[in-house]
Amino acid sequence: MHVSNKPIKVGLLGLGTVGTGVVRIVDMHQEDLSGQVGSPIVIEKISVKDRDKARSIPIDPSRLTDDPWEVIHDPEIDVIVEVMGGVEQTRTYILEALARGKHIVTANKDLMALYGTEILAKAQEMKCDVFYEASVAGGIPIIRTLIEGFSSDRITKIMGIVNGTTNYMLTKMSKEGVSYEDVLTEAQQLGYAESDPTSDVEGLDAARKMTILGTLGFRTNVELADVSVKGISGVSQADIAYARNLGYVIKLLGIADREDDAISISVQPTMVKASHPIASVNGVFNAVYVHGEAVGETMFYGAGAGEMPTATSVVADLVSVIKNLRLGVNGLKHIAPHKPKRLKNDAEISFKNFILLHVDDKAGVLARITQIFTEYEVSLASVVQQPNELNPNAEIVIVTHKASKESIDKVLRRFNELEVVRRVVSVYRVEG
Ligand code: NAP
Ligand code: HSE
Repeated sequence: MHVSNKPIKVGLLGLGTVGTGVVRIVDMHQEDLSGQVGSPIVIEKISVKDRDKARSIPIDPSRLTDDPWEVIHDPEIDVIVEVMGGVEQTRTYILEALARGKHIVTANKDLMALYGTEILAKAQEMKCDVFYEASVAGGIPIIRTLIEGFSSDRITKIMGIVNGTTNYMLTKMSKEGVSYEDVLTEAQQLGYAESDPTSDVEGLDAARKMTILGTLGFRTNVELADVSVKGISGVSQADIAYARNLGYVIKLLGIADREDDAISISVQPTMVKASHPIASVNGVFNAVYVHGEAVGETMFYGAGAGEMPTATSVVADLVSVIKNLRLGVNGLKHIAPHKPKRLKNDAEISFKNFILLHVDDKAGVLARITQIFTEYEVSLASVVQQPNELNPNAEIVIVTHKASKESIDKVLRRFNELEVVRRVVSVYRVEG
């Protein structure tokens, strides 16, 4: 095997939050990085939108271009690090870079969730690497863990806080009573939120990450359309208080589970038992809980966003690409979504539920409500009528045992038709 120590030339697409971190880490840790890979790493060219923008790190202007094609077409460049974001145009850049034999490192979950299959197939055809560790849970090496660490096990459940923005928001709303609007602005200023934060708060960002985790964990081809998604924009201070009273906290959880060979994947605000390890994951931190048949319970915790944590994963991927270059083993098929996919139907998906109803405060109402649960064979864990001086109706707080999604949907439809039920105020999945 020929081992050259010529510098490895990297083209960077994007010099925003993550790109800046990548330049910093390559610069700060150059000696150690080159010690690991056997040659210096040089960031040769960087594409940005606006070359005149002030940057927080010193950058030689001759390395900047506003034309990503200039980076992709540069024959000297071995590896493209894509941290510009975007989907359609970025896909074109990545596919063209691969067609030219360049290896790819990307932090782009939107791209990988939508076009991962196509991009990985092209990479294999071209014997190129595509690594995307930073695309899920920023600084937590969860992708490597699922591919390598759990290759010997059968994963039954992946439960993740995979969006830092919403976890930051829910934590502040819960611990400090900060309003939804104020805390969203704060998360944007801190650089956690996507450029369009609706993808954070409406759960799409988390759904894209769960698409990636589900594919890797269950070794089947999970698509974004397979994920049922609900965001946090409906979470109220009242819901947070109810959860607290019952010993729960509200978290935006991505949940992928598998029984036999049927899977379900969802993202929704969930009431999690306060004693569950994932309930104590606060602020911008992320965590991914993985249950495997052999290993049992595991959990991985760390920063899910932000300049340096995310850049750590990006640069670690870069090191992997260069090590593979040295060994001449780039483009090995390292994930194989080889299992046929079967999605659970609503009768097979089951979980516990919290349901808050406003009902007429009169005799027989509770009996009618419990009767409907009985009709659909939903067993109840607790039913409490809460006093609320501000509300002329009675507030009924119900927690069910595990029940099928199909049954719960039918129960809720019946409540919506029932005159004595003034409003189905909120419904949450309950875990733990
Ligand atoms: P960002 O701060 O908005 O930076 C984007 C960079 O790309 C900027 O340097 C911008 O140029 C450049 N750019 C954007 N559109 C361009 C275009 N059409 N042509 C040339 N350059 C263009 O984004 P980011 O937060 O670093 O995120 C980058 C990627 O990492 C995204 O895919 C994101 O989802 C992912 N990610 C981010 C985080 C995080 O914590 N931020 C964590 C995990 C994954 P200018 O500088 O001139 O504006
Ligand atoms: N907006 C994302 C988050 C960035 O809040 O988790 C990291 O992917």
